[in-house]
Amino acid sequence: MLARWFPLLLCVQMCFWDSGSCGKVLVWPTDASHWINLKMILGELILRGHDVTVLVPSATLLIDYDDPTSPFDFEVLKVPFTKETVKTVLQDFLSLCLYEKPHLSHWEALVKIRQMMTTFTKMSKQTCDGFVLNPKLITKLRHGGFDVLISDPLAPGGRPTTLCETMGKAEMWLIRTYWDFEFPRPYLPNFEFVGGLHCQPAKPLPEEMEEFVQSSGEHGIVVFSLGSMIHNLTDEKNNMIATALSQLPQKVLWRYKGKKPETLGTNTRIYDWIPQNDLLGHAKTKAFITHGGTNGIYEAIYHGVPMVGIPIFADQPDNIAHMRAKGMAVELDFNTMKAQDLVDAVNMVVNNFTYKENAIRLSQIHHDQLVKPLDRAVFWIEFVMRHKGAKHLRPAAHQLTWYQYHCLDVLAFLLTCATVTLFIAVKCCLFCCKKCGRIVRKRKTE
Ligand SMILES: *[C@@H]1O[C@H](CO)[C@@H](O)[C@H](O)[C@H]1NC(C)=O
Ligand SMILES: *[C@@H]1O[C@H](CO)[C@@H](O)[C@H](O)[C@H]1NC(C)=O
Repeated sequence: MLARWFPLLLCVQMCFWDSGSCGKVLVWPTDASHWINLKMILGELILRGHDVTVLVPSATLLIDYDDPTSPFDFEVLKVPFTKETVKTVLQDFLSLCLYEKPHLSHWEALVKIRQMMTTFTKMSKQTCDGFVLNPKLITKLRHGGFDVLISDPLAPGGRPTTLCETMGKAEMWLIRTYWDFEFPRPYLPNFEFVGGLHCQPAKPLPEEMEEFVQSSGEHGIVVFSLGSMIHNLTDEKNNMIATALSQLPQKVLWRYKGKKPETLGTNTRIYDWIPQNDLLGHAKTKAFITHGGTNGIYEAIYHGVPMVGIPIFADQPDNIAHMRAKGMAVELDFNTMKAQDLVDAVNMVVNNFTYKENAIRLSQIHHDQLVKPLDRAVFWIEFVMRHKGAKHLRPAAHQLTWYQYHCLDVLAFLLTCATVTLFIAVKCCLFCCKKCGRIVRKRKTE
């Protein structure tokens, strides 16, 4: 359910405070991987001369508000939890997804996930309170003359509201995907698909890494990352994975922060961090083993690298299903996979040319755009600023109640009409029949 909304990156809203001046942007971000996309857009807005103010909770993972070189103004919202708490909550959530969920019934899993969501919602509300209960900050922002609010609806904030209500207020939606990834379907004119906006041509690798990559010879390399959130795995899993990787003819670069597996092969190197986009854009790269986060998927599409997907949570299973349907990925189940499955999957996407062909086809579709995704994202934000909104793109459906939206009122009216007509017709018939009956009886008695 929630996963359906993960691809949504931003909704662009006009600020509720009126403004005279131009080019002032207020941002309500979401932490972690979503920030990577948003930061690109905000950087571009800065280059174009806009002022950017970011509202950020005092406990964040990726948003570095202390960085003196940052071009953004940060307004820090005091929250009663620390970065460590955020990390712990995330770790609990991940260990639920990775290790506990497969052993729970659907119902138990649902209850557990609901508990987790309650914790997330509470933290989200505390972040909001950091804003709402800070009159000084509100006054400051009110007089700030902002032209536009960019918010990431994964952590919508705001007063008690529904997702529908929040969505209804957005002038413009920027979606983190594009038609290379999506299946064709109708959509509203205030949706713009800007997936892959963070991708760039590969830059040279660090020297040591480049040497390792070059040492792979004709077999090339495999890039492996389960994303920025999964730092460590159980010994059993990491040994199983290391065993599988050691059987590949390629050299493997594995992003992993946990304990070094005992079965680590000589062809595999572990890195705390890898320049993923640059590696995927490297000529020697043959395959990408990924958890299926949107950012990684787009880097692979951009550079035309086939994938082995090991989805874990949120939108990842859905993302990998898309890539599988488009013939660019093989999917594995983290819980049931054996070392041999991983070896087979990598060999499949490397040696069966259809995967590479499809990857290149999607990559060509991705690159063949009239205007680049980042430029389109910036265009629409500036459009909303210039025209004080984009009301002409807004469907009237937002003003309807749910029964009006589904035409239930019309249906009820038609049903009533039909019932009344039927009732009158039946009554008339009965009346006529009775009349006829009486005449016949009268004749008979005569
Ligand atoms: C991962 O590391 C954290 C903190 O070091 C630890 O609490 C957790 O148990 C580890 N998880 C696994 C699966 O080893
Ligand atoms: C290559 O992959 C395609 C798509 O999965 C499959 O139909 C085909 O049989 C594979 N070819 C070989 C030789 O395995």
